[in-house]
Amino acid sequence: MTALISVLGWIVLIGLAGYSVAKGWHWLRRFQKMPLTDRWIVVTGCDSGLGRLLVERLLTQGCWVIALCHTKTACEELREAGVACTFDVDLSNPPEVLAVAEQCLSVSKGMLWSVVHCAGVAKPGFIDYLPLSYYRDVMEVNFFAVVGLTRALLPALRKTQGRCIMVSSVDGLVSLPGNAPYDASKFALEAYSDALRAELSFWNVHVSVINPSTLRTPMSATFFESHRTAWSAMEQQEPEGIWRQYWPAVWLDRFIDKNSENLRRIAVNPAVAVRDLEHALAAKHPRLRYLSGTLAKTLFYFLWLGPEPLTLRIKRLTIQPPPPTEP
Ligand SMILES: NC(=O)c1ccc[n+]([C@@H]2O[C@H](COP(=O)([O-])OP(=O)(O)OC[C@H]3O[C@@H](n4cnc5c(N)ncnc54)[C@H](OP(=O)(O)O)[C@@H]3O)[C@@H](O)[C@H]2O)c1
Repeated sequence: MTALISVLGWIVLIGLAGYSVAKGWHWLRRFQKMPLTDRWIVVTGCDSGLGRLLVERLLTQGCWVIALCHTKTACEELREAGVACTFDVDLSNPPEVLAVAEQCLSVSKGMLWSVVHCAGVAKPGFIDYLPLSYYRDVMEVNFFAVVGLTRALLPALRKTQGRCIMVSSVDGLVSLPGNAPYDASKFALEAYSDALRAELSFWNVHVSVINPSTLRTPMSATFFESHRTAWSAMEQQEPEGIWRQYWPAVWLDRFIDKNSENLRRIAVNPAVAVRDLEHALAAKHPRLRYLSGTLAKTLFYFLWLGPEPLTLRIKRLTIQPPPPTEP
C-alpha cells in the first residue's frame, strides 16, 4: 500500500514538473520578437482611438503603414506625421472597401505583413428603441467590411505568411444589455475569426483576436449619450409606440447621467490594447486571443465562462436604475 502511494506521489510530482516546464517554455516564447522594419501593414480606423495610437507606435518601428481613415483630414494629418500611405474610405460601403483593398495591394506590391482591423462603430440602445437600420449600420462596419477587406488581402498575407488581427471586444465574448447591435457584430467577428484561423493555418497565416474592456477613446466617451440618439430615432419612427412606457424619457436621463460617470471611471488607457496589438504583429509566437485590460481578464472572463444563471444576474445589475416595470 505504501509503495503504491509512493508511486502515485512520484507520478503526480513528475506530471507537475512537466506541466511547469511546458508552461515556463510557453511563457518564455512570448518574448521572442521579430523586427517590423520595412514590413507593410494595413490599419483601419486610423482617425482616432486605438487605430491612431497603433499607427503612431508603428511609425517608430520603421514599418510601412497603410492607414485607412474615414476622413480626408485624418489622412492629411497622418501623412504629415510620416505615414507612408493613407486612403480615406467609408467602410460601410462595400464597393469602396474592395477598391481600397486593390489600392493596398498595389502600393505594397502584393506583399502585406498584416491587416489590423481597428475600425468600429457602436450604436447603443435598448432593444425596444433600436431601429433595425442600426443593426445593419453596425454590422456593415464591424463585420462585413472586415470580411470584404480580409478576403481581398489574403493573397498578399499568404505570400508573407503574415498576420490578420481582429479588434473585437469583451462584448465579442459577453453580450451585455444596451448594446445589442455592437455585441452581435462582435460575436459574428469572433465566429468568422475562428473559421479563418483554422483555414489559414495551412499557409502559416496567423489570426489573432484582441478583446479589450472599456478604453478611454472617443467611442466610450460618447457611449451612453448615444442612447439618446437611438431613443430619438425610435421616437420619430414610432411616436405613439408602447416602448415609451417601458423606457420613459425621464428614466433615460437618469440612466445616462449615472452610467456615463461610471464608464468614465472604469475606462482604461488604450495603451494596454496597443501593446497587445504590437505583440500580435511582432511576436514569433503570437497568441490566438488577447484579453486587454484588467476588467477583461477578471470580470469579463468570469461573465464569459461562469455559470449562466449567475452571470445573468450580474448582467441585469448593469441596468441602473432599472427600468420602471409598474404602470
Ligand atoms: N473604446 C472601447 O471601449 C473599446 C472596447 C473594446 C473594443 N473596442 C474596439 O476598438 C476598436 C477601435 O475603437 P476606438 O475605441 O478606438 O474608437 P474610435 O476612436 O471611435 O475608433 C473607431 C474608428 O473607426 C472609424 N470608423 C467608424 N466607422 C467607419 C466607417 N464607416 N468607415 C471608416 N472608418 C470608420 C472611426 O472613424 P470616425 O470616428 O471618423 O467615424 C474611428 O477612427 C473598435 O473596433 C472598437 O469596437 C473599443
